Amino acid sequence: TKIKAFRQALLTWYDANRRNLPWRVDHDPYHVMVSELMLQQTQVNTVIPYYQRFMAAFPTVAALAAAPESAVLKAWEGLGYYSRARNLHRAAKQLMADYGGQWPTTAAGLRELAGIGPYTAGAIASIAFNQPEPAIDGNAFRVFARLFCIDADITKPATRQLFADLIRQLIDPQRPGDFNQAVMDLGSSYMRAKDPDAAHSPVAAFDESLRTDTVLAYPVKTKK
Ligand code: ADE
Repeated sequence: TKIKAFRQALLTWYDANRRNLPWRVDHDPYHVMVSELMLQQTQVNTVIPYYQRFMAAFPTVAALAAAPESAVLKAWEGLGYYSRARNLHRAAKQLMADYGGQWPTTAAGLRELAGIGPYTAGAIASIAFNQPEPAIDGNAFRVFARLFCIDADITKPATRQLFADLIRQLIDPQRPGDFNQAVMDLGSSYMRAKDPDAAHSPVAAFDESLRTDTVLAYPVKTKK
């Protein structure tokens, strides 16, 4: 089927070309949570050294929970958006105090943790726990809006559900975390916002915006 061919094209490309990133060494939910929170407002190349220093300072969720907030904020210095660091520290304390160090394994369960919204919950559920959950960030909105010429305005909160429903149909049930991360890599390379190269992407054959020469019309955003 076309869906299976799409998954295979995407994952074959990912297997051959995935970036070797420090948070892709294993699927530890703590590693996924810290990296995804850092990556929410900050570029991959900037995050790498912060992530490495953070893990050296706070190697486990227990170590993070036991640390003073001042040490956590110090390790975050330069990344900005310090509410992310405060929430991360709170989530670690919650995990130790309320969950006995046992992670919730579903997206809905993960959303009970401080600072974990739909994107981060989907990322942790899929990457760490193999749940077929979408992780919809700006990359995923752009990639799927282009592939399917989706005209819904991505600045409208209701649009997320439409993308979530679509991605649930497409996501590889065997490799949901790799599927989501492949979409992120696609969104920062061939299907980037500026100066994309859609004609050479591994999913060019499935790209409706490429076929109709409307790549830059997507995603649709009215507010800005
Ligand atoms: N951007 C957000 N999450 C990412 C991830 N897991 N890998 C690469 N880029 C990302």
